[in-house]
Amino acid sequence: MRVRSAATVEGWQPTAVPPTPRTGDDLLTGAADLLERNTRTGERDGRTYRFSVPSARAYPFQWFWDSCFHAIVWSHVDRERAADELRSLLAWQRPDGMIPHVVFWDGSRIAIRKFWHYAESRGIPFVRRPLTTECVQPPVLAQAVERVGGEFVDEALPALERYYRYLARERDPDGDGLVSIVNRFESGLDFSPAYDHGRRYRDPVSLFAAARRGEVVNKLLGFDLSRIFRLTNHHVEDVLFNTAFADGLAALARLAGRREPQLAAWARDTGRRTLDALLERSWDKRAGLFWNLRGRKEEPQRQPTIVSLLPLVLDDLPAEVAARLVEHLSDPRSFATPWPVPSVPRDDPLFLRTSRLRHARLIWRGPASVNTNWFLANGLRRHDYGREADALRDRTRELVARGGFNEFYDPIDGTPVGAPEFGWATLAVDI
Ligand code: GLC
Repeated sequence: MRVRSAATVEGWQPTAVPPTPRTGDDLLTGAADLLERNTRTGERDGRTYRFSVPSARAYPFQWFWDSCFHAIVWSHVDRERAADELRSLLAWQRPDGMIPHVVFWDGSRIAIRKFWHYAESRGIPFVRRPLTTECVQPPVLAQAVERVGGEFVDEALPALERYYRYLARERDPDGDGLVSIVNRFESGLDFSPAYDHGRRYRDPVSLFAAARRGEVVNKLLGFDLSRIFRLTNHHVEDVLFNTAFADGLAALARLAGRREPQLAAWARDTGRRTLDALLERSWDKRAGLFWNLRGRKEEPQRQPTIVSLLPLVLDDLPAEVAARLVEHLSDPRSFATPWPVPSVPRDDPLFLRTSRLRHARLIWRGPASVNTNWFLANGLRRHDYGREADALRDRTRELVARGGFNEFYDPIDGTPVGAPEFGWATLAVDI
């Protein structure tokens, strides 16, 4: 079944004068202006780097996948600036290939800096001032490098290889082809119910405590991956992360191409194994959705969220699986909201329209985000649902036109939600 055009969903009324330019060059100019305003510089080993922060006040550091998205948008207007965005991430790559999910740069932007000074001066244990986190984020780096293209590909290829090999080697302890995240913040969808492990939280305090518990345990284990996999059960074979991994490997295979045929073959085979494993272990034919697999026993987490739809991005996904995902996307009871695509289906009891749960800020529990729309529109196009992809693009641009480049949008009335002037919302130009 084909998705129904989102623009035809009943109940939607176009309103208001666009505060942000909507189409073509104007949209692109607005996007570049925002990324320019959000540009910061940082020093590392005597060299100056530049990058865009996601949102000046709410997110004043550098985030991994945000920078990959920024680079994709920058590649429309300024390739050198796009390459710089990624160079600033690669500057923090560790010898084993890992690239951290947040880079604080000099630490001066950390709001709780005074606390660290205080704690350090009193010798309080466990206190250090790291310049990065110990987490990763969905691996969309090769996709971004591919979009930047040109000579930058040769420059970035060795780092890309080290990064994807790190994930394959260190993050797949059971060797089943699916890589694992070790806390929910690595998923990129922080408080999504996909990581509630069946607890269906309705009060923010217990959700917040549960969310941070995994981080504390990892810290106590010295962020030692083999101990985390052996001793804890909060690691997850995450559908979104594995989708980004397999899609990234496909991009890496194309980039390596004839330059590095062995690398290209490795990337193709590894990505293929990941897709096969997703289909074999995470795909639920009856539900028509992919589930995250939790812990050593790989327990399926049967909580529908946008994560369950994202393998649509994968080129080699069988057509009948893609069609089932598109059915969900076209269902007005769940994912085809007036302003698509909600991060939790609207008929789920946990669905929230905003980023707030009883006044606490808890994101990814319902509102729509431009980056997930970008993934899904790409997926629709790749599987020949061009009309539906166009409808999602138009709707996303309309959201941006009405509410500005924002972190999230209420999927029922399109109101902007969360942080304003938000970098990856500029992906609207690339859908
Ligand atoms: C939130 C999002 C994460 C993003 C970060 C910075 O933590 O969940 O995906 O990278 O904000 O924008």
